[in-house]
Amino acid sequence: MSPLYELLYQGDFFNTTFGKSHCLIKAGLPQVVGELEPEDVLDLCCADTVSSRLLIQDQQDNWQLHHSPLDPDLLDETLSDPELRCSVLVQNLENWSLPLARLWTHFCAPTWLQDDIMVSYAPPGGSVGPHFDAYDVFLVQLHGKRHWQLGGFTQPDTPLRSDQPINLVSDIGGVVFDQVLEPGDVLYVPPGQIHHGVAVDDCLTLSFGLRSPSAATLLDHALGELASSDSLSRPLMQNAEEFSNLLTSGSALTPDLVNQIKDSLIELLQRSDQADWSAALAKALSARRFSYEPEEELASAEEIEEALNSGYLLIKEPSTKLIITLSPDAVYCAEEEVVCASSQEFELLSQLAQSKSLGAECLVSTSALKLVEWMERGIVTLLEPE
Ligand SMILES: [Fe+2]
Repeated sequence: MSPLYELLYQGDFFNTTFGKSHCLIKAGLPQVVGELEPEDVLDLCCADTVSSRLLIQDQQDNWQLHHSPLDPDLLDETLSDPELRCSVLVQNLENWSLPLARLWTHFCAPTWLQDDIMVSYAPPGGSVGPHFDAYDVFLVQLHGKRHWQLGGFTQPDTPLRSDQPINLVSDIGGVVFDQVLEPGDVLYVPPGQIHHGVAVDDCLTLSFGLRSPSAATLLDHALGELASSDSLSRPLMQNAEEFSNLLTSGSALTPDLVNQIKDSLIELLQRSDQADWSAALAKALSARRFSYEPEEELASAEEIEEALNSGYLLIKEPSTKLIITLSPDAVYCAEEEVVCASSQEFELLSQLAQSKSLGAECLVSTSALKLVEWMERGIVTLLEPE
C-alpha cells in the first residue's frame, strides 16, 4: 500500500488529527502519478454528461463561474488570454477513471463516508481563490506543483466576499502552512480551515472529499421513512390529559404549548423503530449526487459468466454508494433497497460494498441474470484482468 495508508491505518490519525488540524504526508500517494494528464481533464470537462465548472479570475480579482456543459470555445479563449487566470473542476471522477476510483482504498474511510473525487486543473497562477469547505478533504497533487497556504478556521462572523459568484474569504488569517506540493504529496484539510492553492505550473490536484450530511438532510429522510409508522401516524394529542392544562390559553400557541408538542414529538422519535432509522439513514447516505447512465449495451448473463470465468473481477460500480445495514440485514443503493434473494446474496453485496473484488466464485452466491440487473442499476461492474 502507500505511506498514506500506513499513516491512516496504523497511526493515530483519526484520534489525534482528523477534524482538528491539517496534515502533510509527503509522497503519501505515489500511485496517483501519471494517472491523468492535463489534456485528459481539458477533454473531459466539456463532455455533455460530466459535472464540471470553469472559474475565471481577472486582473481586478473579479470572478466568473461557468457550469457544465462547458463551452470549448470559451475554455480555449480563457486559456489563451494572458490577462486571465482560471481553474477547471471536474466532479465524480470515479465515473471516468477506475484506477483513480480504486485509490479510495488508501484512505481507510468507511465507504458510506466517501463522497467523490474531484480534479482541478489550473495553468500557472490559477486557483479557486481562498475559501473553506464544510467537509474533510484530502488534497492529492497528481501533476505539476501547487503552492498551498492554510490559514485559520472560520468563525460565524468570518466575512465572505459578497460581490462574487463563489464563496471566497477576503482574508486567509494567520498563515499556518506555506508549502509547494509535488506529485504524490497529500495534504489533509479539516472542515472550516481556510485554504488557498495556486498553480505553480500546469497542475492537476485531486480532492478526495468526505461526506458531511446536514442534520436537515438526515431528518428529512428519517421523517419520510418514519411518517408511515404506527406510532407517528396516530394523532399526537390522543392523550388529552397531557395537554389539557395548556388548552385553556385562548387562541395563541403559547411557548409552553409549543414546548409540550415539541417534547412529545422528540419522545415519539426516540421510541420509534430502529429498523426504520436504519432504512432512513441508509437511504440518505446512498443517495447519488450525480446521475448515473448505464452503458448503452449491457452484457448478457452468458457474457458475464464467460468474462468471470476468464479472469474478469466483479466490483462495486465505483461511483455508487452501497450502504449495508445490520439488524435487519439489508443493502441500499441510490435511496432504494436492493432486495436480496438469499443470505449469500447479502454477503456478496456486503463484500463488494467494502471495495472487495470477486472472481467467478461469486456465481455460487447469485446468478449471472441477477448480475445483469445489478449492472443495469449501476450497483456492480466488471474489472478487466490486468
Ligand atoms: Fe477546498
